Amino acid sequence: MITRQLPMYRVVTDHPQLLPLFPRFNLKLGFGEKSVEQVCKDHGVNVDFFLEIANAYLDELYVPGEGLSFFSLGTVVNYILSTHNYYMDIALPGVEEKIHLLMDGSALSEKEIALVTGFFNDYKKDFLAHISQEDQHILPYVLELERQSTLERTDPEFLQKLRSYSIREFEKEHDRLETSLEHLSTLIIKYLPPFDDLQLCHQVLNDLAALVKDLVDHADVEDKVLIPRVAELEEKLLNTPFPG
Ligand SMILES: [Fe+2]
Ligand SMILES: [Fe+2]
Repeated sequence: MITRQLPMYRVVTDHPQLLPLFPRFNLKLGFGEKSVEQVCKDHGVNVDFFLEIANAYLDELYVPGEGLSFFSLGTVVNYILSTHNYYMDIALPGVEEKIHLLMDGSALSEKEIALVTGFFNDYKKDFLAHISQEDQHILPYVLELERQSTLERTDPEFLQKLRSYSIREFEKEHDRLETSLEHLSTLIIKYLPPFDDLQLCHQVLNDLAALVKDLVDHADVEDKVLIPRVAELEEKLLNTPFPG
């Protein structure tokens, strides 16, 4: 369990799997002896939010909700947005490049190579569509909902929209991005002939496993923290009588 008093460098040396979280909070290495609390404070990061996210990331059994419900929807949305950026700019291109390298140096038949690259390209298309639907529609809606909830009187046009739309619609079609990636690992582990470049092959599998884990965690924040809180706020706005 990570606590605010721990030196940040210890957190990273003990749990290197947390490294992908740091850019999402705009935290750069070179912590010296500073505590978790001090590093967060220096970078304008809410330390309680950082602790919740980091501890949830480390604990497989953690069900988010309780702790994260203390933070504004805006804080959660910002974290989701920067996680999306990490996937789009770093994680996905990184694993894609390695898969191409692995294919280039392999003795696979053309048909097998086409199978793997075709699979990955289809996945990437679905992935981009998923993220852009959230970035362009869902998250701006959540921010607007939170803004409306702070107004003395909800905008009638917004209320009208609320009567015909709920985040529960998004919940129904919110699919899991990790499943296809697991199939890709299975393809490599079970069905393709072995690769000569063992090290690269293992790197690809490790990258895929890390991304799967990250995506599970991410979907949990969306499904178990964001959606229930948004639904609750929608109800509240709909049931608030007009003043005077
Ligand atoms: Fe997302
Ligand atoms: Fe999602």
